[in-house]
Amino acid sequence: TAGGAKPRLTVLLAGPRGFCAGVDRAIKIVEEAIRRYGAPVYVRHEIVHNRFVVESLERQGAIFVEELDEVPDDAPVVFSAHGVPKSVPAEASRRKLFYLDATCPLVSKVHREAEHHFARDRHILLIGHAGHPEVVGTMGQLPPGAVTLIEDEQQAREAPVPTERPLAFITQTTLSVDDTAGIVSALKDRFPDIHAPAKEDICYATTNRQSAVKAIAPRAELMVVVGAPNSSNSVRLVEVAQRAGCPKAIMVQRGRDLDPGLADGLGVVGITAGASAPEVLVEEVLARLRERFEVTIEEVVVAEERITFKLPAGLQPA
Ligand code: F3S
Repeated sequence: TAGGAKPRLTVLLAGPRGFCAGVDRAIKIVEEAIRRYGAPVYVRHEIVHNRFVVESLERQGAIFVEELDEVPDDAPVVFSAHGVPKSVPAEASRRKLFYLDATCPLVSKVHREAEHHFARDRHILLIGHAGHPEVVGTMGQLPPGAVTLIEDEQQAREAPVPTERPLAFITQTTLSVDDTAGIVSALKDRFPDIHAPAKEDICYATTNRQSAVKAIAPRAELMVVVGAPNSSNSVRLVEVAQRAGCPKAIMVQRGRDLDPGLADGLGVVGITAGASAPEVLVEEVLARLRERFEVTIEEVVVAEERITFKLPAGLQPA
């Protein structure tokens, strides 16, 4: 409004939001590999589900591919944070490729749980989303048939499950905390003796980002989630916002995707970011709103995160 004062808008910033320790580590692995071994460094699958991150690594010399057969014999290759089926490192070793595994340690922990149950002759139910690379990787730790995927409560109640052997369940790390509780209770009703993980497989970052959204959603008239449609934890944040009482929740990949006119007439907008979305993209969204509004930021922090993961041996700083 030329000449006039901009309307006021309060922005509630969810804390924590954005990068988790697993994403931070995966990006550093690619950057450090380029620094040590020189470009190009191949990366199997988007290292983390964010175009902005992928494009900035491409500019530094990373080449993203979907499968190992696209990697030449003499170049290093990095496996993405989501984890890979056992067949992938096996094939890399067979070809004598030099590979670095950027699988998040919290995903690797779930892989080890799967192997632990399998070694005790338990049939495994994996709660997760079909086709997500983490699910493909976790199921691929074991031979075909060892794991049954359970996607929702109905499948928990009805999916055919072999019952000759004891059962155990594990989960994807980036699920909805609330949906998963429902699925787990349906499984426990149906299979009272099922083995449960000692500690939640849904990771700390997923849990904290969902709690932060729940804390601001009831006050926000619009929730903007900075993230990507193929990022499981980002998609969950949109759902959590809606269920926690926010009338409208949208996902944007970056600032230019946001029509600031959506906030016309509103007093309070919430902003969060998925675990693979860098903070500069949150800054872009704020800048977009400032084009139109006099923005006051209120950060609502529900948890402090201090966790970091070491780089794999060989990439650690000297
Ligand atoms: Fe790891 Fe959780 Fe991030 S599993 S990659 S810390 S979202």
